[in-house]
Amino acid sequence: MYVKKVAVVGAGTMGADIAYSLAMANIPVVLRDVDENALQRAQEHIRHVMQGRVDKGRLSPQEAEKRFAQIRFSAQDKDLYDVSVAIEAVPEKMALKQQVFRELDRILPPLAILASNTSALSISEMANATTRPERVAGMHFFYPAHTMKLVEIIAGDSTDQDVLDTLTRLSEELRKIPVVVKECPGFVVNRILTASMAEVMRFKAEHHVSAHDIDAVITKNHLAPMGPFVLADALGLDIAWDVANTLQKAYGDRFYPGPELGELVQQHHLGVKTGQGFYSYTTPEANASLKSAPFTPEQEHDLIDQFTMATFMEAARVFEEGIASARSIDIAMRAGAGLPTGPLALADSMGLDVVYEKLTKMTKRLGERFTPPASLKERVERGQLGVKTSRGYFNY
Ligand SMILES: NC(=O)c1ccc[n+]([C@@H]2O[C@H](COP(=O)([O-])OP(=O)(O)OC[C@H]3O[C@@H](n4cnc5c(N)ncnc54)[C@H](O)[C@@H]3O)[C@@H](O)[C@H]2O)c1
Repeated sequence: MYVKKVAVVGAGTMGADIAYSLAMANIPVVLRDVDENALQRAQEHIRHVMQGRVDKGRLSPQEAEKRFAQIRFSAQDKDLYDVSVAIEAVPEKMALKQQVFRELDRILPPLAILASNTSALSISEMANATTRPERVAGMHFFYPAHTMKLVEIIAGDSTDQDVLDTLTRLSEELRKIPVVVKECPGFVVNRILTASMAEVMRFKAEHHVSAHDIDAVITKNHLAPMGPFVLADALGLDIAWDVANTLQKAYGDRFYPGPELGELVQQHHLGVKTGQGFYSYTTPEANASLKSAPFTPEQEHDLIDQFTMATFMEAARVFEEGIASARSIDIAMRAGAGLPTGPLALADSMGLDVVYEKLTKMTKRLGERFTPPASLKERVERGQLGVKTSRGYFNY
């Protein structure tokens, strides 16, 4: 389907950046909000980001004006009559999202696509609030949406293929990397990241080590671009806690992050936004006492194994449930979480027999959550051991 014009509904943190990305691709946008002040703030934010590009010499002032003029900041229904795609980015509450979807269903042309930027809510439930469930899908951008490359395109129970194709092409026009996934709590990236975060939290509680020292091991060994505790503080510990609880309800105790995260949230220590989380953001010296006794080489080795294997295990489950292809999972984890290698390709390069053996030992030591997944077992039994046999999760 040809996308002539896009509406972004909700001009907050995500909506403003999504509108910016569309305007930069020269696609006409209507940015809509119930709050006049939010529209005003979005306008200032978009001008500021564009000016940043002008200052760096990446955009001429004339081009910046032209792109900015693609956006209409409006709360009026008549500006939506010729929209091909609407991207909803209102707060994460199902009742509100359904209300917005009902409204868009009433105003937009019958074939227009209704997409949601939800982090975790059910696309099918939103779709069921409309008369066109087959034209509804998820289009999940990552924060900050003007720089992060990944977009998860999520199929609900009845989403048309044409809708997924159109949203994939639209993402590519925005110079983003789309991956198509099926609906499941947490989708791909947040689900896998939260599983590895819960494992690291458990390690912290069991070994009485500091967030600082764990983050240092993760980054020193190039397992992720930033430590999980720095990342959680940046995203907001209240959000991390909500997501962990939702995923624990959906998938069980491997997502239980331990008591510390909940305690911090209760004390309103929510990370960067409140000045205190796992780290303190008041003065540079405030974190001086965070270092614990140095890790023993054995502890460091265990942490690396627990982090990489928890990441691999959740990726393998997502793969086995048919939520996304091996390729999409690895692309999503590289583009959305910044991992240097996708978790399935990493297992292939380690050797699937080696991974199998490691997990068998970890199951004995740490429990059932490390039981080797069926897809791994099958491959090992068939002698498909990854890179060294030219076949594993991928062909080489
Ligand atoms: N912030 C993130 O890091 C992030 C990342 C990925 C996805 N998301 C998801 O994106 C969505 C929006 O998150 P956000 O952080 O941008 O929220 P936000 O609170 O910054 O912005 C939401 C905006 O929606 C507006 N709004 C409320 N009701 C409305 C209505 N009926 N019609 C039009 N506008 C309305 C609000 O006035 C506000 O400006 C959520 O579903 C969230 O889970 C957020």
